[in-house]
Amino acid sequence: MSDELRELVGAARTFLQVHGRGRHFATGDWEPKVPRERAEAAPPAPDAGAPEEGPFVHAAGPVAAEDPSLASLASAPDMETLRVLWGECARCPLSAGRNHLVFGEGAVPADLMFVGEGPGEQEDLQGRPFVGRAGELLTKMIEAMGLTRERVFIANVVKCRPPGNRDPEPGEVGACLPVLRAQIRLIRPRVIVSLGRVSAQTLLETSAPISRLRGQWQRFGDVELLPTFHPAYLLRSPEKKKEAWQDLQRVMERLREPHG
Ligand code: URA
Repeated sequence: MSDELRELVGAARTFLQVHGRGRHFATGDWEPKVPRERAEAAPPAPDAGAPEEGPFVHAAGPVAAEDPSLASLASAPDMETLRVLWGECARCPLSAGRNHLVFGEGAVPADLMFVGEGPGEQEDLQGRPFVGRAGELLTKMIEAMGLTRERVFIANVVKCRPPGNRDPEPGEVGACLPVLRAQIRLIRPRVIVSLGRVSAQTLLETSAPISRLRGQWQRFGDVELLPTFHPAYLLRSPEKKKEAWQDLQRVMERLREPHG
C-alpha cells in the first residue's frame, strides 16, 4: 500500500469513528403504519417512483481531467477510503442546501444493493439513506425478503437532498454518478434493485417509463438489475405493493441460484 493510500485509510478510520456506522431496525410486516389518508396527503417524496412518463436523462458529469479526485475513485480499495475521497463534495449546487451528505450504508461486499433517488428530509437530517417513511417501508420490504438492512447496501443516485424533494437535475445526477459507480464496483452486488423512475432511468441510461421497466430484468454492466417501484410511491399507491413484492420474490429466487 502506498503512503498516500495508507494516509487515506487512516483518515477513513477517523471519519468513521466520528460519524459511526449503521444501526439496527425494528422488524415488522411491510404494510405502512400510517393511515391511508395520511399516506396520500403526505408531501411528495424524492422521485416517489410514480409511473409517470417522460425521460430522465443525466448530463455528463465532471470528467477526471477537470476534477483529478475522480480518477482516484476507481482505485479506492474500500468504502471508507471512497468516502474520504468523495469528501465534503461541492461538485453540484445541491451541496449548498444540505445538512448531511448521505453516502449510503450497508454491507460491503453485498449480494444485493438498493439504489433510490436521493435523500429526503429525514435522510438529510440524519445523514443516512431511507430513514423516513419511505425508508420504514423499504426496511420492511428487505425484512420480508428474509434479509436485514445490514446485509444489503442502500444508496441513492444523488447524495444530497434536492430542495423540496424535487427530482434531481441531470447535471446533479451526472456529478454524483462517478461515486455511485465506484460504490457498485466495491460492493460487487449480484443484483441491484433500482427504486423508482429516476434510479432506473439513470442506471439504465434510458428514457423508458418505469411502467415499462418495472419487473423486467436488465443489466448494469455485468450486474443484474431489476427496477421496481419506489417505496414512497407504494405508500401513495398501496395497491401496487403486490407487484413490488413479486419483483422482490424474483430477486430472492435469483439470489438463491448457485453463483460461480
Ligand atoms: N427516497 C430516496 O430515494 N432515497 C432516500 O434515501 C429516501 C427517500
